[in-house]
Amino acid sequence: MSSTDVLGRTEGGDLRLAGLTKRFGAFTAVDSLDLTIPQGSFFALLGASGCGKTTTLRMVSGLEDPTAGQIFLGDQDVTDAKPYRRPVNTVFQNYALFPHLDIFENVAFGLRRRGFKSVKPQVETMLELVELGHLAKRKPTQLSGGQQQRIALARALINQPQVLLLDEPLGALDLKLRRQMQIELKRIQTEVGLTFVHVTHDQEEAMTMADTIAVMNQGRIEQLGSPAELYENPATTFVANFLGQSNLIPGTVETATDDVVTVSAYGRRLTLDAGRCRSVSGKVILGVRPEKVQLAAAEADVPSGRNVLSGTVSDTSFIGVSTQYLVKLPSGEELSVFEQNTGREIQRPGAEVFVYWDPSQGFGLDGDQDIEAGAALDEEGAA
Ligand SMILES: Nc1ncnc2c1ncn2[C@@H]1O[C@H](COP(=O)(O)OP(=O)(O)OP(=O)(O)O)[C@@H](O)[C@H]1O
Ligand SMILES: [Mg+2]
Repeated sequence: MSSTDVLGRTEGGDLRLAGLTKRFGAFTAVDSLDLTIPQGSFFALLGASGCGKTTTLRMVSGLEDPTAGQIFLGDQDVTDAKPYRRPVNTVFQNYALFPHLDIFENVAFGLRRRGFKSVKPQVETMLELVELGHLAKRKPTQLSGGQQQRIALARALINQPQVLLLDEPLGALDLKLRRQMQIELKRIQTEVGLTFVHVTHDQEEAMTMADTIAVMNQGRIEQLGSPAELYENPATTFVANFLGQSNLIPGTVETATDDVVTVSAYGRRLTLDAGRCRSVSGKVILGVRPEKVQLAAAEADVPSGRNVLSGTVSDTSFIGVSTQYLVKLPSGEELSVFEQNTGREIQRPGAEVFVYWDPSQGFGLDGDQDIEAGAALDEEGAA
């Protein structure tokens, strides 16, 4: 027997994409996606502009026909179902509220269209959920951007979808409001417990909200995992650069045991945990996040057992909670170092320094990749 949840919906099951593909002429926008999004999860599809996020959502909602592949909700194949027959609703970036209707009627719209006579209790529940019951009589233009966004959410949720698709829903908001709404959206998702598929090019936004993130690149899923998994153990240079910042150091594997991999790079010997190294022979790229790296003025000050490189400070930015350094290696490459502000002496540009980190903090990637992949995309996408 099927059970119902807080919105009165019958439970539907996971959203599953199988070989989902969309071509526009010769161009492949979505390239054979295989993806299972567990029921009730907050799932983020993260990627740069043009990587195929909106096209994927449009296929799930039925606004775009796939070139190949299938879409399942639970056991049900909905690939060919008409949009209005799918238990799926979308919230867009431009929330498109009806300007001539007040807030109450905007939220009531979906129910009225389906012929419901009594809508008051449901509308009130929804307005309560988004904490805007007191604004029911206002018109959309009399609300702030964040309030309009919450009404757009209420208007979608009242239809009791099994899956809510959110396409850059916070894109029009300023940074502060965005942060507030991220927390708010997460609260609402936890409360109603339905599946949210949230599309964004903002990695911080994806990390703040999602249980699982799929990093998308040129129509494909590059890596899928929890925010912490993706951040600590990126599988590719694209993910390492796109999700936060990484120092990526090209090297060659010297020795590899079950526990430790030794890499020669820049004339130094560096080590890392074998369990975090995706390539244990030949060329390798050693990665370490800027906040895992520290500076010492003399090599004698470096604690034993650390990986060490020497260089010259080329930039120092004091930003309060931390000081961010760029350190130029003799090879010309620059490493980023974020040092927490603990009152330590600040190194000025021109200072000779030793950069060091605990070997367990590094990760190893296949050496045959573009070391710059994904590095500039974040900024572009955000523009
Ligand atoms: N109807 C169409 N005809 C031809 N090409 C299209 C069409 N719709 C999308 N594309 C192309 O498919 C690719 C993916 O587009 P999509 O809108 O899915 O990207 P996106 O990841 O949502 O990007 P953004 O972050 O900018 O919204 C783009 O290169 C786009 O130009
Ligand atoms: Mg888009």
